[in-house]
Amino acid sequence: MIRKNKNLRTAFAMTLSATLSLASFMAYAQGPEPSAPRPALSAGFRFAEMTGEDLFANVCRACHMQDGKGAIGAGTYPSLAGNGNLQAGGYPVTIVVNGQRGMPPFGAMMSDDQIAAVVNYVRTHFGKNFPDPVTAEDVKTARR
Ligand code: HEC
Repeated sequence: MIRKNKNLRTAFAMTLSATLSLASFMAYAQGPEPSAPRPALSAGFRFAEMTGEDLFANVCRACHMQDGKGAIGAGTYPSLAGNGNLQAGGYPVTIVVNGQRGMPPFGAMMSDDQIAAVVNYVRTHFGKNFPDPVTAEDVKTARR
């Protein structure tokens, strides 16, 4: 179990560092500014992926797993599959913007559109299909 978690962390670190060098270049070249930049894991770092699918694959998957079912080891990464907490879109928006305990805050690393896209992705995959997408405006509200 502990070993599995270690692999998870390594996978996340590798994804992050690989994405980091690419993303900082991309962000410099073309990235939209987040509406409320704040210091987070790494000041100035921005994710470059724009679709919910790509963001999930490169950011969330390392902890929440390919199938969204999470993992339990030295830490607990909750399942997003069949998770009723995602029903009210404002909840996952707030968690992704601000983080919560072991969940890092991504508010400063993603634009409103990126956060809305990845939240809408997790709310319409892994056995769920909530019909009311969140908007960039919802993300803006959660930043305040
Ligand atoms: C570094 C590991 C990590 C990454 C990367 C990560 N999460 Fe999490 N996530 C967690 C942990 C740990 C929790 C549980 C937080 C707590 O204890 O309240 C969590 C909780 C959540 C929750 C709340 C689940 C619930 O039932 O309350 C949502 C929604 C969520 N994450 C979505 C995402 C999305 C979307 C991404 C990608 C943008 C992401 N997470 C990336 C570790 C991570």
